[in-house]
Amino acid sequence: MIETPVVALTGAGISAESGVPTFRGAGGLWREFRPEDLATPEAFVRDPKLVWEWYAWRREVVAGCDPNAAHRVLVEMEEQLRRENFTLVTQNIDGLHEAAGSRNVLRLHGSLWSMRCTREGTRNSDRRVPLEEIPPRCSDCGALLRPDVVWFGETLDRDVLEAAIAASRRAKMMIVIGTSAAVQPAASLPLLAKRNGARLIEINPDETPLSADADEVLRGPAAVELPRWWALQAG
Ligand code: OAD
Repeated sequence: MIETPVVALTGAGISAESGVPTFRGAGGLWREFRPEDLATPEAFVRDPKLVWEWYAWRREVVAGCDPNAAHRVLVEMEEQLRRENFTLVTQNIDGLHEAAGSRNVLRLHGSLWSMRCTREGTRNSDRRVPLEEIPPRCSDCGALLRPDVVWFGETLDRDVLEAAIAASRRAKMMIVIGTSAAVQPAASLPLLAKRNGARLIEINPDETPLSADADEVLRGPAAVELPRWWALQAG
């Protein structure tokens, strides 16, 4: 039985079966690349072209991927529970929740499909694949554009984080799907929910630092376990 409000917190694992590489674990991006070379403000200042080549490659990979059954269940949940009873919080920048049809997504780490002017701070949605020029430049002022994502050492958008914290505090149920719970502050949201009385459900093929605190653990791929879990709640 669903207890509302519900918060779903997702990480790279929910998109794994869509073909998007995760960061940690077998085949993870951080096995092959070093975050300090590619995902920090210092790396961007040092070599914007290299950083942009990496993001351009990720845009190309994701452009060839479709949402999977787990993304689609979260759309159903949003539709069936009223808006005040369901909050989707994601660490993913791939846009697959939106592609599946989720309307209200709290994107903690920004979006692969948005660019920000390094001079004016203006944001623009940009879905071009491949990019015509690397690094891309602002069409208004000519300054470098940067990926509109949160890098290591940067703070999250305050409004987005506050909304995620508020929803986690109110939650009666939090479903944590496909995250290694290795990156803060996202990793502390489930514990905040739990401290405030929420039932914690983890969907992940592997154990994580959250597993010991979970009230229910579903060990398997999200595209299998989430639809199965959701069908049980509905039944
Ligand atoms: P990780 O790559 O750290 O973790 C992915 C998790 O998904 C692991 O716990 C896997 O066991 C699990 N997993 C793998 N396949 C799965 C499947 N089919 N179904 C369900 N789970 C599966 O990704 P995140 O936890 O999202 O941040 O990483 C958090 C942040 O670290 C990212 O947003 C990114 C990264 O560095 C920044 O770039 C700021």
